[in-house]
Amino acid sequence: MVAIEAVRGDITEEHVDAVVTAANESLLGGGGVDGAVHRAAGPRLAQAGSAIGPCPPGDAMATPSFDLDPPVRHIVHTVGPVWEGGDQGEAEILASCYRHSLQVADELDVRSIAFPAIATGVHGFPADQAARIAVTTLRSTPTRIEQIRLVAFDHDTYEILAVALRR
Ligand code: APR
Repeated sequence: MVAIEAVRGDITEEHVDAVVTAANESLLGGGGVDGAVHRAAGPRLAQAGSAIGPCPPGDAMATPSFDLDPPVRHIVHTVGPVWEGGDQGEAEILASCYRHSLQVADELDVRSIAFPAIATGVHGFPADQAARIAVTTLRSTPTRIEQIRLVAFDHDTYEILAVALRR
């Protein structure tokens, strides 16, 4: 069974096979976690993103990890929903991000993966609801992945993820 844990830190420093980034549809790079991932992976990441993008909300696409240090081999780009109050299918799109990211990683034979708190920054998704969706979706999606790390950049997000994992 997959082990899911919450950790606090910078996702670009995770020792996992694949790192997920909360991208925009262009896959050319942005701010927040996506900016950090693109800075760490180098300019070839945007080139690779432009070659496979655009990526619609709720979907996920993989590229190599370029300049990120091993063991990271893959970057999974997923596009979260923009929060518009909750009645525009945001929850379903966010669940789809986690589900598709796992599916893409499975196809690449990934054994360990790190997720940021998708959509909870610039996109404005409430962090507690997002954490519940993340945990529920990851637990219910069949996968060969053995280790999932939910990486919180700040203390509040870490606490929220820890609570969601204890449910
Ligand atoms: N490591 C881990 N988490 C991080 C990091 C990092 N280095 N940097 C930021 N975060 C956290 C934020 O604190 C937030 O909890 O990632 C979470 C998601 O925030 P955003 O990066 O703003 O992502 P999102 O809300 O999905 O918005 C995506 O922002 O920059 C653009 O290109 C991106 O358009 C897309 C949008």
